[in-house]
Amino acid sequence: MRIRSSEITSKALYLRRREFLALGAAGAGALLLPRHARAAETPHGRKLDGVKPGQPSTEEKKNSFEEITHYNNFYEFGTDKDDPARHAAKLQTRPWTVKVEGECAKPAAFDIDELLKLPLEERVYRLRCVEAWSMVIPWDGFPLATLLEKVQPTSRAKYVAFETAVQPKNMPGVGAFGAIPFPYLEGLRIDEAMHPLTLLAVGMYGEELPKQDGAPIRLVVPWKYGFKSAKSLVRIRLQETQPPTTWSQYGGGTEYGFYANVNPEVDHPRWSQAKERRIGELFRKPTQKFNGYADQVGKLYAGMDLRKFF
Ligand code: MTE
Repeated sequence: MRIRSSEITSKALYLRRREFLALGAAGAGALLLPRHARAAETPHGRKLDGVKPGQPSTEEKKNSFEEITHYNNFYEFGTDKDDPARHAAKLQTRPWTVKVEGECAKPAAFDIDELLKLPLEERVYRLRCVEAWSMVIPWDGFPLATLLEKVQPTSRAKYVAFETAVQPKNMPGVGAFGAIPFPYLEGLRIDEAMHPLTLLAVGMYGEELPKQDGAPIRLVVPWKYGFKSAKSLVRIRLQETQPPTTWSQYGGGTEYGFYANVNPEVDHPRWSQAKERRIGELFRKPTQKFNGYADQVGKLYAGMDLRKFF
């Protein structure tokens, strides 16, 4: 039976339902308590200097700063879409280093304030979440390839593994009942990682990245479902073998694949991916293959059965 989109259970709801069932009737009342008021002010960070317009950038209407910072997935801060906006202020983003290591000639730890001095460009990308919503976001950042080239990957570097921050005292979702395991792990094939579309974002709308969007530095892979775009990166590892990832191990390994290329023809086991809801718009729109970036990235997958390699 085909599931109607109105019946979609998002990852967040699915996790919360498991929590609810596990809590049982007595404890469940806690989930029905009124929610805290949303943070009254939208956090604005330091302005970034000298950001140049970059290509490609979509001409589509951008989502507002308010939308991009108040409808988030960042499970370290909770499973509701407004949890990151309410809790992420506690994230400590200084001092912050990103270690780049593994199969490379010059492993190094990069201080975030040094990375912020790299030439930055604005890329306006579509972000398509596996939960069938999407946004248009003006990221500020630099290609991941710029960082990887600095450490000189060896010929054995076939994959790149990403690890994100864990600050148990500052992240209410870490160690919470029913939460996914942390650190949040992601991975790419080396050619995907080196592709010019793959971005390390350090800002948004010309300002340092808001904490709920993955400060101080996050991955953005616009042709893949949003869960590949790991937030608050602390370690990048070049390696010969395909790394395990948080979501590809979840749900028996059948729900969120390693490749996770946006594809309207491959449904999630529990809902259709044919259409998406652009946050702020009324009517759903058709989902585009590779999220509209097929011309740039389609060739990376020549000869691969994209149904099999979800
Ligand atoms: N990164 C970390 N560390 N933790 C997360 O829970 N969620 C992912 C991704 N990166 C997530 C993460 C998911 S499911 C999506 S859709 C995007 O972040 C959402 O990015 P946004 O909230 O900035 O729109």
